[in-house]
Amino acid sequence: MKVGIDRIEFSTPNRYLDLVDLAHARGADPNKYLIGIGQRKMAVPTLSQDIVAMGANAAEGMFGGLDDKEKASIGLLIVATESGVDQSKASALFVHDLLGLPSSMRAIEIKEACYGGTAGLQLAADFVRAHPGTKALVIAADIARYGLNAGGEVTQGAGAVAMLVAENPHILALEERSVVRSRSTDDFWRPNYSAEAFAKGKYSEQVYLEMFAEDWREAESLGLTQVSGLQALLFHIPFSKMGRKGLRTLESVIPVSDYERLTARFEKGIMYGQEVGNLYTASLYLSLISLLERDESLCAGDRIGLFSYGSGSVAELFFGILQTGYRDRLNRTGHEALLAARQRLSIDEYESIFSASLVTDGSQQDIEDGDPAALHALIRMEGHERF
Ligand code: HMG
Repeated sequence: MKVGIDRIEFSTPNRYLDLVDLAHARGADPNKYLIGIGQRKMAVPTLSQDIVAMGANAAEGMFGGLDDKEKASIGLLIVATESGVDQSKASALFVHDLLGLPSSMRAIEIKEACYGGTAGLQLAADFVRAHPGTKALVIAADIARYGLNAGGEVTQGAGAVAMLVAENPHILALEERSVVRSRSTDDFWRPNYSAEAFAKGKYSEQVYLEMFAEDWREAESLGLTQVSGLQALLFHIPFSKMGRKGLRTLESVIPVSDYERLTARFEKGIMYGQEVGNLYTASLYLSLISLLERDESLCAGDRIGLFSYGSGSVAELFFGILQTGYRDRLNRTGHEALLAARQRLSIDEYESIFSASLVTDGSQQDIEDGDPAALHALIRMEGHERF
């Protein structure tokens, strides 16, 4: 049975900070951010665009294309996030309500840093394989937050990707064989008492690269990495330079023509991420959307590798085959319009939104300054309940 991604959509807040402005404000050379980090802009969410709102907005984009029968066949909703809104109730239940999904289904939240999106996708694929005729909706949604003036500030971002997983998918059929490894590391983490993540920046890059190398070697030993047949290799993109460093480790071990092809396609895969920043769980999947929408040369039948990394750490290298007609399921015009319509913030506006974007008193708090482009938004907290 072929199982994989049947639809894919993304959503990001309608405000951004230009990283040249951030460089000037922080006394850094703009080329450090533009070339050294490899990012151009970062999305800045207001309080109204939390992961529930962004996740529902991302999924909403695909719902116009789903008929009632398809909607009723969704048996599982997974929201993968490390920016959850509650320690007990799954954010999937808020999203389930906003999307009007059937009650006879499972709705859960899962977490393992940026790997959560892949954990969700693989669990969803297994679910569909085990329950023929059903579909699963996976939403990866996050707000990357390190703090004003923090080392990781330039690698912040916000957004969500929604994927419908089904039999005979129209976009990408997932291969069942993959390589995955788990190892407890302290490279990046966010304890319950902190609204901002802590990162050992250089160490986190080292673990990312080590785990990629280990995954690649194991995949090679299993015969999964014949590069002549690999048309693209995508990476988790906390910032584009990180994925580029991963790809460069292959430069001396694969033929030049294969390396050049993978590099050209990698460049297409980072285009959207460079505009919105790190989406944690959703970053790899935004890279997939970017590749499919911005590359004109891929064809049905092409094989794509995806490297997922989540700090803490879990890393998985897996593969998929592009399906006939995949271009008909994409929304390049809509996504370009979404990015083009965003409002550029000044540094003062960014800093004030950043400082105000935490729920401080859930007993009674009106959430102002909503996102006019978004269908779903958090508008009020009352008696510690969300509206
Ligand atoms: P930093 O201290 O700003 O780094 O931290 P830097 O001073 O080394 O500069 C960065 C790069 O810019 C260097 O290049 C410089 O040479 C270059 P590199 O050596 O890396 O190739 N540079 C310039 N280039 C051109 N012109 C210039 C110039 N100046 C300097 N003028 C760091 C950077 C990424 C470490 C920091 O932003 C950080 O801590 N970020 C957060 C952690 C992170 O993103 N880690 C990535 C791996 S872990 C991961 O991917 C998981 C994660 O997504 C979380 C999850 O799983 O949930 C983070």
